[in-house]
Parts: sequence; structure tokens; C-alpha cells
Amino acid sequence: MKLGIAREHREGERRVAGTPETVQQLVGLGLEVLVESRAGAAAGYSDDAYVRAGARIVPELDPGTLDILAHVRPLEPATAAALRRGAVTAGFASPSSELTTVRALAAAGVTSFAMELVPRISRAQSMDALSSQALVAGYRCVLEAAIRLPRFFPLFMTAAGTVPPARVLVLGVGVAGLQAIGTAKRLGARVSANDIRPASADEVASMGGTFIKLDLETAEAAGGYARELSADRGALQRKLLAPHVAQADVLITTAAVPGRRAPLLVSREMVQGMRPGSVVVDLAAESGGNVEGSVPGQDIRVDTADGEGTVTLVGLKDAASAMPADASRLYAKNVANLLALVVRGGTLSLDFGDEVLAGTCLTHDGEVRHAPTAEALAMPDNRASDNEGVA
Ligand code: NAI
Repeated sequence: MKLGIAREHREGERRVAGTPETVQQLVGLGLEVLVESRAGAAAGYSDDAYVRAGARIVPELDPGTLDILAHVRPLEPATAAALRRGAVTAGFASPSSELTTVRALAAAGVTSFAMELVPRISRAQSMDALSSQALVAGYRCVLEAAIRLPRFFPLFMTAAGTVPPARVLVLGVGVAGLQAIGTAKRLGARVSANDIRPASADEVASMGGTFIKLDLETAEAAGGYARELSADRGALQRKLLAPHVAQADVLITTAAVPGRRAPLLVSREMVQGMRPGSVVVDLAAESGGNVEGSVPGQDIRVDTADGEGTVTLVGLKDAASAMPADASRLYAKNVANLLALVVRGGTLSLDFGDEVLAGTCLTHDGEVRHAPTAEALAMPDNRASDNEGVA
């Protein structure tokens, strides 16, 4: 069976779905591995390294000849349509926003596995690409803040005087936020954090941060995720957070609610209330923004209310892709571990009695198996005839 590792085409994407290390693992499953030429170049993995690991390099993958296709970003509809019936794909699918591709995958009879749908259960942790990539993003956002901050993160006691540590505030303490806390602590900052899930207080403490307790009820939904706050509660949360934001040298926001726009935690006024030179990094900028006015991929200077200077508001974009070598190393492992569940003795063996496979499967045998996506496709606005030609 032939497995292809795709060269990514989306602008800003530097990761790859297979590394020389995972090629060895995939060859060990009995697969013939084809790597699209220069697929790993931006992540630092050369064609030669893939060949040494047992892959064959091809100038272009021909989707119609593949049994399995591994990718990072959602496939283009044309690629999905060119796959043969019964082929398997594994990669991020962004099902809620890439409905045209989902429809093409179903129409082509492809069995697609969406990495963002991997269940958050212990057995699937080695396949959890949301977590692995959030870890990279959480680390990266602290570095982005540190290089923009006009002062040190750690305490320095020097002959020329003592420099106090920077104060870092992290809002939203999931996988990315916890990693941000750990990274800021390792750099020597004084770190505090807040989240609306009840378990987060202990998690913050375990990373060496100080949990900020607000007089606000917690909001947890099924699966350990957050629940969206009502408008009133959201406004109250911003009001209660304002004094803590004003004291921070660095503010990092990573809050998300699955299936919803990112919650607005910080108003423009709150940013203006920070000290000149402070830095805000909004990791949620691409999903609506936790900070009012943040723009993905841009640094914006916001005048402080005291008229003394500016705050740098960073709208982070493609954060995991900015560290493509290790982001790919982890992502490729997640993909290979998932594929190890579907390849037995060099052939496909799909056991949908396995909750990991059942939960991760987006399309199979002409059907959209992920219920929320099937419902979205059935909405009048999203029916195929209304969407022809939409990419
Ligand atoms: P996420 O990316 O969905 O959200 C990030 C954080 O934002 C969450 O901690 C959430 O509570 C917080 N948030 C949402 N609204 C907020 C608000 N208004 N104010 C402050 N914070 C707000 O979360 P992620 O990183 O995907 O993790 C979600 C949960 O899943 C966590 O409990 C995590 O520990 C758990 N998890 C479990 C895994 C497993 O069992 N295998 C693996 C990874 C995560």
C-alpha cells in the first residue's frame, strides 16, 4: 500500500505531516512511503533524509494512486476529489470551515480522519495533535512577547543595580496557556493566570504560577472544556480582570471555547490602561481574538491612556508553524500513531468499534460521520447546489 506525505501549499504553513523518524515507523507498518519533493524543506527535513529513512521522493503526489495521504492543513477540494474510493486521509480538516472539502471527501468515498477530532482520552494522547500543536504555540507566544518587551523577564542582581522580574499574566490556561506559564517561569518572570474552569487553579499552581481568583462562577462543559459565558458574565469578567491586566508587563491570552468565537477577555480600554512598553500577545487572534483590536499576523501599537507611550498588541498567526521542525516532529508522530491503528500487516483494517477511530473519522463510505459537520452541511445555506465553485 502506498502512503503519500504531502507538500503543504497554504501560505505561511511550514510544517510537514511526516518526518524521517515517522517514515521509518510507517515503513515498519508495511507501507511504501512516497514523499512529495521538498515537503519537509521548510521544517528542516531534507529529501535525502527521507530517502535514508526508507521513503521514495516524487516530484508531485498523484492522489489517485495513493491508499493513504498524510497532510497538515485541510486538503483542497480538488485533491479530495482526486482521491480514489476507499483511500484514507489523516490531517487537520477544519470541518466547520472547510465544508466544500468535506463534501468532496464524502463524494469520493474517502475515509478521512480529522486530527482535531481525536478524542481527548488517555489512550489517544499520543495522537492528540491539538495538544501537541498548542504546546508549541504556547511556548512560541512567550518568546514573541520576550523579544518585543523592552526589559528583562528574569530578576537580575548586578553591580549596577537590581532589575525586578517582568510580570506575566496568562488568561486561558488550557494546553497552550500552561505551556506559556511554564516557559515564562523558565525565563524567570513572575507569572499569574486565570481561567474559568475549576480545575485550572491547581494546574496553574503545578506550573509555578499564581492563580488569580475572580469573584465569578466557574464555567465548565463536558469533556473538560470551557462553557461560553453570558454577555453579562463576560463583561463582569473583563471588569474584574482590568486591575490585573493594568499591572502586567506581558499579557498572553489563549482562551477558547470549542465551536465558538474566542471569548473577548480584554477591551481596548484595558490595553490602554497598561504601562508604556507592555506587550500583549493574543494567541486567539485567528479565531476572533481575546483582545479587542488584535489582527492576526500584525503588531499594532496602542497608545496608553496616560499618553506616555504605547502597548504592542501582537495578533499571533500560524504560531505552531513558526517552529516547524519540532511542531512537525510532534504532529507527524500524532499522525503515524493514528495510522498505526488503521494499518495491520500492510493492509487497511478499519475497526470503528475503536472509539478513537470512530471519534476521529470525518467521512467514510460516502457519508459524513461527524454529526455536527453533517448537520452543518444539511443547512440550506451549505447545500452543494448553493455552493458550487466555493473553494
Ligand atoms: P481550549 O483551547 O479549548 O481553551 C483554552 C482555555 O481557555 C481553556 O482552559 C478554557 O477553559 C479557557 N477559557 C475559555 N473561556 C475562557 C474565559 N472566558 N476566561 C478564561 N479562560 C477561558 O483548551 P485546550 O487546551 O484544548 O484544553 C481543554 C481541556 O482539555 C483542558 O481541561 C485540558 O486539560 C483538557 N485536555 C485533556 C487531554 C486529555 O485528557 N488527553 C488532552 C488535552 C487537553
